[in-house]
Amino acid sequence: MTDQKIKKTFHIITPVGFENLAKNELLHLWPCAPITKLEKGALCIASEEMEFFRHIPYLKIPTKILMEIDQFICRDIVKFYNKLTKVKWNQFLFGQIPEFAISAKNSRLFDSRKIEDSAKKAISNYYKAQPPQKKYADILESLPPSTIHVRILDDNCTLSVDLSGERLDKRGLKLFTSEAPVRENLASACLQFSFEQIKNQGDEIESIIDPMCGSGTFLFEALMKDLPQKREFYYKYLSSYKLEKKHVYNYQGRITKFIGNEISENTFKGLEKNIKVYQSLFTQTLPIQVIHGDATHFVSTDSTSSLLITNPPYGKRVKVEGSTKDYFDELMDIYDKNCAPNYMAFLIPKIIPNPKNKNYRFLDALNFSNGGIDVKLLLWKRK
Ligand SMILES: C[S@@+](CC[C@H](N)C(=O)[O-])C[C@H]1O[C@@H](n2cnc3c(N)ncnc32)[C@H](O)[C@@H]1O
Repeated sequence: MTDQKIKKTFHIITPVGFENLAKNELLHLWPCAPITKLEKGALCIASEEMEFFRHIPYLKIPTKILMEIDQFICRDIVKFYNKLTKVKWNQFLFGQIPEFAISAKNSRLFDSRKIEDSAKKAISNYYKAQPPQKKYADILESLPPSTIHVRILDDNCTLSVDLSGERLDKRGLKLFTSEAPVRENLASACLQFSFEQIKNQGDEIESIIDPMCGSGTFLFEALMKDLPQKREFYYKYLSSYKLEKKHVYNYQGRITKFIGNEISENTFKGLEKNIKVYQSLFTQTLPIQVIHGDATHFVSTDSTSSLLITNPPYGKRVKVEGSTKDYFDELMDIYDKNCAPNYMAFLIPKIIPNPKNKNYRFLDALNFSNGGIDVKLLLWKRK
């Protein structure tokens, strides 16, 4: 008998427009990752389960990870129900009725409520015929959220289980969040984008500076870039998951300084608490320095090999005096004078014209939506 490992199909779900950044993040981690397709908002992988599972905690850009359970042609609710009663649910569920995420397009079966009711009934009846093992009754309360995705496209139904549990941008640590935080996976995508451009320029970064760092999202995402997330994942409960050694958090990254500055007293206190939470994971003292003060007075001597990446107030959620355009130009001038980083990146609203500074050359922009506001990350290199 051949020792061929059974491959499953996985979908790594990303915000639309971030597919290539997520692909590069995965390839950095797993150079020969078996990527079979890149779709709008997803990467498809064909891999043996455990081989794939072990990379999940390291992925910082995606929002969800799905594993395909079954695929079938389906044009009516009776066939859908019958198909679902034949799935071996005890490989993916533990006696609970999961949440459902249903999408149907160009198909005869399109009523999400009917589809969900039918799926719930099929799973309940499956449990009657194949009761879940008794030992699972104790873990049901503590299980991460479980979601079954039903996607029906052109009468072709795909059933998948979400391996993530909570959305992947929820990092699991009990953190203080500022008034207008950037979502963690979006901050990670901004960092991935900047690092790729910096690498293309033949450079490397040794320090990260955020002069308006709020709760510290850019600093922490940069710190954790090549490290696994410390949180629950649904896949760790599946029988195909083989227990791994506990990760010992020992920071050995190339970036040796993480420098933050924040003006608000309350936010600064929260930032200090967040540092303590991250510090508690690690065996050594983390190279994070934070200052409580006005960014216009913030001075850094870490100019060479540094990336200043910041998300200044937009004026929408955090008030800005005067014109936002002049304000961003002024900020760029101040950071040029006081910090002179060799790379600078601003996350600002898309409608604002790009700020300019004579000492910086514009490299590229990443456009996306941050909490409903269209934004762009602009990256410059010092001339
Ligand atoms: C859009 S938020 C940044 C949020 C941050 N990226 C995060 O994820 O928490 C802007 C932050 O800049 C701070 N801020 C505003 N004006 C400032 C100034 N002049 N100096 C320093 N920080 C300032 C605000 O208090 C706020 O925390």
